[in-house]
Amino acid sequence: MLNTPLISGKLSLRTRLVLPPMATQKSDSGGMPDDGLVSYYEAYARNPLIGLMITEHSYVDIQGKASSRQMSFAEDGVIPSQRRLVDACHAVNPDLTIFAQINHAGKNTSPEVTGQELVSASALSGKGGQARAMTREEIRSVERRFAEAARRVRQAGYDGVEIHAAHAYLLNQFYSPLTNKRTDEYGGALENRLRFLIETLRLTREAVGPDYPIAVRLGGCDYQPGGSTVQDAVTACAMLEAEGADLIDLSGGMCFYSRAGHDEAGWFSDMSAAVRQAVSVPILLTGGVTRPDEAETLLEAGTADLIGVGRALLRDPLWGVTSAMQ
Ligand SMILES: Cc1cc2nc3c(=O)[nH]c(=O)nc-3n(C[C@H](O)[C@H](O)[C@H](O)COP(=O)(O)O)c2cc1C
Repeated sequence: MLNTPLISGKLSLRTRLVLPPMATQKSDSGGMPDDGLVSYYEAYARNPLIGLMITEHSYVDIQGKASSRQMSFAEDGVIPSQRRLVDACHAVNPDLTIFAQINHAGKNTSPEVTGQELVSASALSGKGGQARAMTREEIRSVERRFAEAARRVRQAGYDGVEIHAAHAYLLNQFYSPLTNKRTDEYGGALENRLRFLIETLRLTREAVGPDYPIAVRLGGCDYQPGGSTVQDAVTACAMLEAEGADLIDLSGGMCFYSRAGHDEAGWFSDMSAAVRQAVSVPILLTGGVTRPDEAETLLEAGTADLIGVGRALLRDPLWGVTSAMQ
């Protein structure tokens, strides 16, 4: 049932419904949430059916900024404004668990936004021009930037942090064989394509401490010829669990958050069900759910432990609330 708690490891969620990260692109020019954005998230805090809210992707470094009004965790200066957002939501509902998602866009941005050259796993054309392959030193530096951003997330009062490794952004560009053509230890076999993410997770754990929840949003499968497969997702998630991930949030890779030819509720449920068989940390499934009964059916079928509802909640922040709950 959507309306039942999930208690697992470090996680204690009051329900199974998740507000997944959705970029509003409404922060100020310094990447800080303003009053409007605080009110926007407060509206979700008023929905008693939401157990976990994950705020929109925030960049960890200016080179990985995805769009001009994206939220930031790249500098210590954002901590007070982020604290205001979290405190406002907790004031509305102290039982709501709130995570922040941190991201690096890789080649999925443009020099007009970042003022820098585009980088990726390999030399490929990106959204705003040609990207070049990152050096090992640059990889290490971005891993540290993720860890520092996660430390800021904790300092701002969030209940957990989510590393974004889906939707064709940097960590996903390394994971997918479609975009990773490297011949060093960061390319080739799945273990190598996952190395950047695993090292990021390790440094993040060091930065936030052993007791702090870390989620990973993995673009587990590309659903394209030559791309990552459901079996890759199963193996990858077992590795992420072994490295201390507390929650696996599954979505698409190079197909972003949709799946060609599929419009059913839970269009990534084949992947989430397979991963759930292989790991014991909770699995979050998102994509295509528009009605509460669809979410209940996916939970009852054992395809996931948590259900994300994105666009339906965008349309109605009180989605799923019955009059008895209000
Ligand atoms: C406007 C919009 C912005 C989004 N921004 C993000 C984001 O910042 N990070 C992320 O991981 N996914 C993002 N997504 C994907 C959603 O989290 C979700 O996976 C997707 O909307 C599919 O779920 P739905 O069918 O319930 O909407 C975004 C989706 C939309 C519609």
